[in-house]
Amino acid sequence: MFRVIHVFILLFVAVFGLMSLSALAQTPDEVLSGIQSKAKADNPTFQGFSSVRGESFFKQTHGNELSCSACHTGNPAATGKHANTGKVIQPLAPAANSKRFTDTAKVEKWFKRNCNDVLDRVCTSQEKGDVLAYLLTIKN
Ligand code: HEC
Repeated sequence: MFRVIHVFILLFVAVFGLMSLSALAQTPDEVLSGIQSKAKADNPTFQGFSSVRGESFFKQTHGNELSCSACHTGNPAATGKHANTGKVIQPLAPAANSKRFTDTAKVEKWFKRNCNDVLDRVCTSQEKGDVLAYLLTIKN
């Protein structure tokens, strides 16, 4: 009898664990609309995101040696390589890697770190949204 109860408790924990995990997962479009809300709050004259601006932001350097494409390559559907450590970086474009832009906390953590490397400052919501708009135009 106690065994049966144990099994039920385990099942219960497993099912609820999975449910809360899927509740945390987001789609890249949801991540983008979160960034858009911030961009509107930051700038009352916000005019929307531009994938063209995002592409040049991604490929250009911004005063430092590295650009975004230095690690993520000029083709975000391709596997990248860390410019300093040589470590493999899975593709950044959601079409090529379904894990990308599905977790706001992860997205924000890496935007913060990578923008600091490339620009010596954090990226604005406008810049983040432009980059994501660009990445979403890439088909695998
Ligand atoms: C020095 C190498 C390097 C540079 C330069 C770099 N990145 Fe990254 N980036 C990484 C690594 C390493 C990760 C985390 C490992 C992974 O997720 O594959 C990452 C992850 C990310 C993620 C996380 C996305 C997700 O949902 O998993 C975003 C967003 C990102 N980078 C954007 C940028 C942008 C924008 C720039 C330019 C401002 C940039 N990166 C420049 C190395 C770099």
